[in-house]
Amino acid sequence: MDSKTVAFLGLGVMGYPMAGHLAGAGHRVCVYNRTPAKAARWVEQHGGRSAATPAAAAAGAEFVLMCVGNDDDVRAVALGADGALSAMKPGAVLVDHTTASAAVAREVHAAAAAAGVGFLDAPVSGGQAGAENGKLTIMVGGDDAVYARAETTLAHYARAVTLMGGPGSGQLTKMVNQICIAGLLQALSEGVNFATRAGLDADRVLDVISKGAAQSWQMENRGGTMASDKFDFGFAVDWMRKDLAICIAEARSNGALLPMTALVDQFYAALQARGGGRWDTSSLVRLLRDGG
Ligand SMILES: NC(=O)c1ccc[n+]([C@@H]2O[C@H](COP(=O)([O-])OP(=O)(O)OC[C@H]3O[C@@H](n4cnc5c(N)ncnc54)[C@H](OP(=O)(O)O)[C@@H]3O)[C@@H](O)[C@H]2O)c1
Repeated sequence: MDSKTVAFLGLGVMGYPMAGHLAGAGHRVCVYNRTPAKAARWVEQHGGRSAATPAAAAAGAEFVLMCVGNDDDVRAVALGADGALSAMKPGAVLVDHTTASAAVAREVHAAAAAAGVGFLDAPVSGGQAGAENGKLTIMVGGDDAVYARAETTLAHYARAVTLMGGPGSGQLTKMVNQICIAGLLQALSEGVNFATRAGLDADRVLDVISKGAAQSWQMENRGGTMASDKFDFGFAVDWMRKDLAICIAEARSNGALLPMTALVDQFYAALQARGGGRWDTSSLVRLLRDGG
C-alpha cells in the first residue's frame, strides 16, 4: 500500500478510533487533540506522533482529517490562527467528519479553495461501534477530483463512502439521516411503552416484529435496551439536539416542513432538563413511562 502522510485532528469518541485505522493501515499519522493527554495516549497505543496545534499537525500532510464538535469548533480547528488551513500546502486535502451545517462546509470549502487546498464535508453515521470497527457510512460533499483522491483514505474506516454532490451535500445528507432517526425513535418508544402497558413481553414483541415491516437499525440495536431502561451509552441527547437544530435551521431556508422533527426536538429538550443530556437518544421512551 502507498503510505501517506496524514494528520487527524480531534481524538474524541469517533476521531480516536478513526485515526487508529489510518495508523493500522500503515499511514504516517500525526494527531492533534485540544486536550493533549488524549493525543499522548493515542501515540502510545498507535505510534506516529502528535502536535500541539492543528497547524503543526497539518503541516506537510497530504490529507488532513478532522472530527470535532460543532460549527464553531470546525471554524476554530480549520480556519483559526493556528488552524489547519494556515499550514496546509497547495494540493493537499482537508476532510471534515464533524456533523455541522452545510453553511460552514461551504465557508471552509471557499477558504480552502483560496489556499489551493481541496475540501470535503464528510459527516459519518454508524456511531462509536462503527468507528471502532471501521464500518462507518460516510456521506461526502465536494469536488469530484478531490473526492477521487480521498476515497481510498476514507475507506480505511468505512463500510460505504459516497459523494453526494457539491460542497455541503454531505452535511445535507446527514441531516436527512438525523430527521429519519428522530421520528423513528419516537415511534419505537411509543411501541415499546405500549407493549409493556399491554402486559406483553417487550423483548419477545421486538424479536417477532423486527422480522417484519417494522424492522429498523434502531429496533435491532436499541429496542432491547429501551425495554430494560438502559441509556448510559451511545449517541448523546446533547449531540442530537445540536444536529436537529442544524436540520431545523436548514429547513427554514429550503422551505421543507419538519413537524415531527421539531416535536421530537422538544422531547429531547425535556430530557436535557431532567439531566439526560448524555443519555442515548433512545431515552425518549423515559418521557412516556414517566407520563411526559
Ligand atoms: N458519537 C457518535 O456516536 C457520533 C456519531 C456520528 C457523528 N458524530 C459527530 O461526530 C462529531 C464528534 O463526535 P464525538 O462523539 O467524537 O465527540 P467527542 O467525544 O465529544 O469529541 C469531540 C472532539 O473534538 C475536540 N474539540 C471540540 N471542540 C474543539 C475545539 N474548539 N478545538 C479543538 N478541538 C475541539 C475535542 O477535544 P477535547 O478532547 O479536548 O475535548 C474532542 O477531541 C460530532 O459532530 C458528532 O455529532 C458522533
